[in-house]
Amino acid sequence: MNTKLVVLNKSTTNRKIMEEAGAIIQNGGLVAFPTETVYGLGGDALNPISAGNIYKAKCRPSDNPLIIHIAEWKDLSHLVLSIPEKGKKLAENFWPGPLTIIFPKSEHVPYETTGGLDTVAVRMPNHKLAHAFIKAAGGYVAAPSANTSGKPSPTLAKYVWEDMEGKIDMILQDDVVEIGLESTIIDVTGTIPTMLRPGAITQEMIEKIIGPILIDQTMLNGTDIETPKAPGMKYKHYAPKGELTIIEGNTEKVVNKINELVVTTKEKGFKVGVIATDETIIDYQADVIKSVGKRLEEDIIAKRLYQILREFDQEDVEYIYSESFETTGMGQAIMNRLLKASGYNIIKL
Ligand code: TXA
Ligand code: MG
Repeated sequence: MNTKLVVLNKSTTNRKIMEEAGAIIQNGGLVAFPTETVYGLGGDALNPISAGNIYKAKCRPSDNPLIIHIAEWKDLSHLVLSIPEKGKKLAENFWPGPLTIIFPKSEHVPYETTGGLDTVAVRMPNHKLAHAFIKAAGGYVAAPSANTSGKPSPTLAKYVWEDMEGKIDMILQDDVVEIGLESTIIDVTGTIPTMLRPGAITQEMIEKIIGPILIDQTMLNGTDIETPKAPGMKYKHYAPKGELTIIEGNTEKVVNKINELVVTTKEKGFKVGVIATDETIIDYQADVIKSVGKRLEEDIIAKRLYQILREFDQEDVEYIYSESFETTGMGQAIMNRLLKASGYNIIKL
């Protein structure tokens, strides 16, 4: 298959391109598109064949359900059996935006899209061009992140191209995404809503609107990994090719420990990388050293993290040592992704 790469123009609605992209979706094809979180791999959410095509292009197990992206409020009711009060409040406060809400599914949503579940994940992204695309596609676009399963989600079109060239019909290219980590996921089908994946809409922000929520344990520490509530969480995700270890503790001790590990790993003949911050980058000696940004600028860290993991892959780094981050606010999402990328491989000092 020839994959067409189209660079979108921010200042127009790109009407002709969107018509073409929309027609591809309506005919069962696949189009990767930008959102404010990461690039999505879109197919028709109401067409069971499209879901199959998505799983195939991503090399993803088909019991891992997809998020349905909508662009208009009226379209939510078509997808869900009911809208629990707390789900309604969250949607009103955070849509359009990086929050995915899990509702009981309606009969219109095929089980192929929900991985056999009776619930459906819905999100209204906050991205003008994504909205134009979703509307042109008929209103309901199922989209996982546009990476091969097990790789970091793509924050740039060139990474979508790397993973999907020859496997999908079209890639809509925009600038670098705004957030860089996938949406927060919250399940509102139980009595007390449960957060299944942290993201830019933080636990603190959610609890301000609907009161206390539960946190899925899998999300925090990778235990209970066989029965996670978000089926996608049971796979080792976002993994770089190199073996990643996180070192947690006070900064001076962490720097010393990482330098020590770098020496012993290099002695064994391996290529070694370090994930540092602007504050510590000069303190390390390794083959490849990259800073995710200033420790307190978590939004920048979030935006750069996946790109850095991919860069380590490209440079064939075999062992990566990373500093750890705060676990409140956006830091909760950053640490969650780092932990998953490392397979929960953490040294606490
Ligand atoms: O930011 C995002 O959410 C991006 C962009 C493209 O919108 N999408 C994304 O999709 O990250 P994906 O497929 O990579 O992650 C979706 C997660 C998976 O862990 C999946 O198991 C979970 O959502 N999920 C989807 N439907 C679910 C459901 N009905 N119940 C529980 N978990 C669900
Ligand atoms: Mg993904």
